[in-house]
Amino acid sequence: MSLASAEAETETVAAERSHLHSSPARAERLLARFHQVRNFTDALCAGLEPEDCVVQSMPDVSPTKWHLAHTTWFFETFILKKFVQGYRPEIPEYAYLFNSYYNAAGDMHRRDLRGLISRPTVREAQRYRASINSHIDTLLSNADENLLDEIEPILVLGRHHEQQHQELLITDIKHVFAQNPLYPVFRSGRARHSLRAEERTATPMRRGPYRFVDFEEATVAIGHDGRGFAYDNEGPRHQALVPAFSLASRPITNAEYIAFIEDNGYGRPEFWLSLGWMTVNEQRWQAPLYWTKHDGAWWHFTLSGFRPVDESEPVTHVSYFEADAYANWAGARLPTEFEWERAALDCPVDGNFVEDELFHPAPTAVASAVSTEKTAQDEDLRQMFGDVWEWTRSAYSPYPGYRAAPGAIGEYNGKFMCNQYVLRGGSCATSRSHIRRTYRNFFQPEKRWQFTGIRLARDPA
Ligand SMILES: [Fe+2]
Repeated sequence: MSLASAEAETETVAAERSHLHSSPARAERLLARFHQVRNFTDALCAGLEPEDCVVQSMPDVSPTKWHLAHTTWFFETFILKKFVQGYRPEIPEYAYLFNSYYNAAGDMHRRDLRGLISRPTVREAQRYRASINSHIDTLLSNADENLLDEIEPILVLGRHHEQQHQELLITDIKHVFAQNPLYPVFRSGRARHSLRAEERTATPMRRGPYRFVDFEEATVAIGHDGRGFAYDNEGPRHQALVPAFSLASRPITNAEYIAFIEDNGYGRPEFWLSLGWMTVNEQRWQAPLYWTKHDGAWWHFTLSGFRPVDESEPVTHVSYFEADAYANWAGARLPTEFEWERAALDCPVDGNFVEDELFHPAPTAVASAVSTEKTAQDEDLRQMFGDVWEWTRSAYSPYPGYRAAPGAIGEYNGKFMCNQYVLRGGSCATSRSHIRRTYRNFFQPEKRWQFTGIRLARDPA
């Protein structure tokens, strides 16, 4: 069983039996998971200097310090201010500085100016984290069952929120470091990488072209079934007709993407959406983000430094526009999110996640080697989870019957359901305990700084 499903089951069983358990045991369990996630954020920052933590390299990127404080603000605002009688924030101004987009929680500082904030310092942000952790400890340790019933859903949401920010912290620091001609190394990652390269050599039959796996037309249940945690945008669960389709057995590799580049893919408007073609020309894109041609060979910046592009890795840091153009060039298309979810039903939620500390997509054959569970379907579909988020052609919109919750928490997902596309499966920067088959990530079609990649689909011949 994957960690994600283990966690989901634990939480479901615990929730069902909550009134049979004593408060201390329940509080202890909640606090253990809370601290595990909070500590992992701190561990990700272990190799960073204060100077690294304050840079904002573009409006989409937030400084590491801001992530540290904002995730803390979430617990303070939605738990401590609500459930601790007479709670007085030590520094009330943080409510303005570290609110991201919750209008119901008050005014906020401009997102694109976060890099201009030198105070509070990184050390003060860390002190803020420790202080709020300690308040949460006290609150939960003294809470009765009824209070825990109220706090638990928000605490769990805050935990998953922090895991989302861990991924952003990683992709943001990558963008920050990429601006530096010294190309700083976030984590060397070499040991694991070379080990996996050996594994790849040991299983040469797994390399080679992708295949298309066929799926019959079916009416399938789409969306989360309510067991364990899920975001509100994964429901309501509903029946959807998914016509017959085929899905590629693995993501597109760098070698395959280089073939598109060398066939002048970036210079041929027939492959591109109008908005994509405009963006390519405005931004002068000629390759994925972080790629540079060096003495006739492609190199790219990674979190373990600047290095030659490994042709067997899944291509990453491509926009929806590039993914769509590649699919057109290849005579295929991107899958819908419903096709993807249907195909993922029998795939183990396993792969190269942030816990593997590679901080980079793993070569195709290697990632399949790390799977611990095998099913018949897994023999066909590989790397559905981890490595790279897979762009789908589905616009990010509400499922039938969806209603955002009232108040600030309702602002979490619902208000972004416009002009964005859904991505599935998680990446090498996603936590294994954060991803699900029904998980819907979403970004605007021109964004490239997340670990985003391509899996092809096609209609029946
Ligand atoms: Fe946030």
